[in-house]
Amino acid sequence: MTLPVTASLQLRLAEAADCSALATLARSAHSHPWSDAQYLQSLESGHQCWLLDSEGEVVACCVLSRLFDEAEILDVAVSPSWRRRGLAENLLKGLVTELSADTQRLLLEVRSSNLAALSLYRKLGFSEDGLRKNYYPAENGCREDAVLMSLALDGNGS
Ligand SMILES: CC(C)(COP(=O)(O)OP(=O)(O)OC[C@H]1O[C@@H](n2cnc3c(N)ncnc32)[C@H](O)[C@@H]1OP(=O)(O)O)[C@@H](O)C(=O)NCCC(=O)NCCS
Repeated sequence: MTLPVTASLQLRLAEAADCSALATLARSAHSHPWSDAQYLQSLESGHQCWLLDSEGEVVACCVLSRLFDEAEILDVAVSPSWRRRGLAENLLKGLVTELSADTQRLLLEVRSSNLAALSLYRKLGFSEDGLRKNYYPAENGCREDAVLMSLALDGNGS
């Protein structure tokens, strides 16, 4: 996969040695971040983790689970100092092109309060399929709904 982003950024698949950097990125991006061990478990279970590397620093990632003709986005994160430069949009557009060869549908779940991510996914053409009530843990022992979204892909390589 190639990405039309800054030349200093290298796109590659994560390896076990990247899990600590991925967990650091997650802590900068999520209220309930994955740990090193959770990224390792994800890789070991066969998930694909694409990352953008800037001179040894992991600045963005996207974790995908693929099952038959569907794929699910499990994690997307961009380092705070790299946001609003099109990284997530370009990374996901690249993945969509890559997946289109043999995938019919791309799925994801996002916190209902995550307006930045909702806007990103809507811009990429995802539609909202429903809500999973009280799905995510939130602050002060509360819970938060998940918005279920999907994007239909060609699934025929075109
Ligand atoms: C959501 C996130 C991945 C976006 O990454 P990014 O690289 O900054 O996004 P991009 O620059 O590619 O933005 C693409 C589009 O996303 C939307 N968007 C991104 N950040 C936004 C923000 N802060 N507010 C509103 N819309 C936003 C916009 O539609 C934007 O298009 P525009 O620039 O034409 O307005 C990033 O803010 C992040 O890592 N957040 C924390 C982790 C997270 O929420 N992950 C998603 C979990 S489902």
